Amino acid sequence: MKFGEKIKRMKGNRKIVMLTAYDYLTAKILDETPIDLILVGDSLAMTFQGCKDTRKVTMEQMLYHSMAVAKGSEKTPVIGDMPVDSYSTPAKALRNAGRFLKAGTHGIKIEGNHPKVVQTLTEAGISVMGHVGLLPQTAESYRVQGREEKTAELILKEALELDECGVFSMVLECVPESLGRKITENIKAPTIGIGAGRFCDGQVLVISDILGLDNRFTPKFLKKYANLRETIRNVAQQFSKEVRSGLYPDNEHIYH
Ligand code: KIV
Repeated sequence: MKFGEKIKRMKGNRKIVMLTAYDYLTAKILDETPIDLILVGDSLAMTFQGCKDTRKVTMEQMLYHSMAVAKGSEKTPVIGDMPVDSYSTPAKALRNAGRFLKAGTHGIKIEGNHPKVVQTLTEAGISVMGHVGLLPQTAESYRVQGREEKTAELILKEALELDECGVFSMVLECVPESLGRKITENIKAPTIGIGAGRFCDGQVLVISDILGLDNRFTPKFLKKYANLRETIRNVAQQFSKEVRSGLYPDNEHIYH
């Protein structure tokens, strides 16, 4: 059975868990856990490259990270996030999605409502993850979407349309819980929320956020499960101290 089918069958049965990864070692660790999907998110533009948004990341950069992640993951399906401008026409999207698959990903994700593009890809047998709500590739500001009735209706309409085009799952980003619930209850594909409340079919978080690497990023939805920033700082401080005091390298760490 194709992985997309397996993910679809989880709807209503088991919550789907997805995390991002951008490198080989992280993917290898995640692959040892029971998570269902690894996303090579274009969020890497911000968390890995230090850009202010996700708009400048290129296909080549996304393929480079996708290749590294795919090498690290033996059993967990890897999804490549198509960067802005890589899917502006169905033909371009088909070509670029093919490059992601060649780099080792099992499917791709596309932000926003692009029914013709999504339909072309799904008809070609490519597993497509949709993404509605807050769309960082085009958003003017990062804030909750769909609080007003009109925008909520529009987001629901987009989700329904993408569902009809055959997406195997759909990310809902930063929408009120009530809208997350409504979309989840009205589409066939499982929803994977990030800041979309408890009723989604699954949840996704960005790996550097969940690990607590960035103390500047503190949206309400984010739960930091670790404080790796402090761990890294402590390790670097301890290493400096030991090198400068002559404690490292000690006898145990020297070739004789
Ligand atoms: O780029 C990304 O990491 C994403 C997730 C936040 C879903 O799109």
